[in-house]
Amino acid sequence: EEKLDIINLNELEAQAKAIIPQGGFGYISGGSEDEWTLRENTNAFEHAQIVPRALTDMDNPETDTTVFGLNLKTPIMMAPTAAQGLAHAKGEVDTAKGVAAAGALMAQSTYSSTSIADTAAAGNGAPQFFQLYMSKDWDFNNHLLDQAKAAGVKAIILTVDATIDGYREADLRNKFQFPIPMANLTEYSEGDGAGKGIAEIYAAAAQKISAADVKRIADYTDLPVIVKGIESPEDALFAIGAGAKGIYVSNHGGRQLNGGPASFDVLADVAKAVDHRVPIIFDSGVRRGSHVFKALASGADLVAMGRPVIYGLALGGAQGVQSVFEELNGELKIDMQLAGTKTIEDVKKAKLLHIHY
Ligand code: FNR
Repeated sequence: EEKLDIINLNELEAQAKAIIPQGGFGYISGGSEDEWTLRENTNAFEHAQIVPRALTDMDNPETDTTVFGLNLKTPIMMAPTAAQGLAHAKGEVDTAKGVAAAGALMAQSTYSSTSIADTAAAGNGAPQFFQLYMSKDWDFNNHLLDQAKAAGVKAIILTVDATIDGYREADLRNKFQFPIPMANLTEYSEGDGAGKGIAEIYAAAAQKISAADVKRIADYTDLPVIVKGIESPEDALFAIGAGAKGIYVSNHGGRQLNGGPASFDVLADVAKAVDHRVPIIFDSGVRRGSHVFKALASGADLVAMGRPVIYGLALGGAQGVQSVFEELNGELKIDMQLAGTKTIEDVKKAKLLHIHY
């Protein structure tokens, strides 16, 4: 497999559609109900504008950043996404290689096609986080947290916005069932996920989650716990009060509550409530370097993407994943130069305009 020749990340979806089987493609690309929130996630970046700066006497912007004590070459990271074996036979193992080659941060999903240990090993020392879907079975939760720790994972991302799956019509239409096993489920659940739909998978997970659950997980593991799926200042404050060491602003890529706002539109308010007490990760709808810039300038410390990376994986394995990161980081660098921001810290301090066109 070779590096992909990418002009922009948007064009990858049509290319991936041509090679991923229909059920898998619907699961990956789809959102909930009539996908208004999914579309707004990307449209909403137009609600803010970057002020061009010219007489700043700067060149060669640098995208290196330090977050959660990790030195990264880019603030762009891989969002935790399930079942990457749908896109490529090597699944998360190839994603981990591509993300590591780009100097970025990888997040593994509970529902990965490959195991925590195998995915971590593929990263070859590059930092990774592990995303936990809280199970009703606390032995299983603790087992996964132990496995993550043993594999050298740097933080736990606890996803709290998926106590039930959103009303995803593509999956219903395709009668979608995961055709491949989920490596982390094999030891503990009655099945490994193969032959089940997403609703059945989530049914085994906790269907209500409270701040007390966040605390229980934060107390059990000595890894920092980042709470994912936060879209309101209230939830951010509950999470921090329960011991969260990071807040992950996300609406799950428009796959959960349709009719909710674009994730970008709530970021600044959540960041204001968090007030720099813990780092903020942001995702949902990011497709452009300018989107990354705007998220950083609105309070994010790291910006994640999901679908474009899966498409890169489908199209070119580890090289394809690396190409997606390099394309987006390259766009970010152009935007940084044209906005007169030399470093990621400068981007975070940039003041956006909010003109309604
Ligand atoms: C996801 N997402 C997700 N989130 C999570 O916490 N655990 C998971 O297992 C998954 N699985 C998953 C599968 C697929 C196919 C997608 C597209 C998404 C949500 C993911 O972490 C992230 O929030 C979104 O993908 C961000 O939106 P974009 O970048 O895809 O627009």
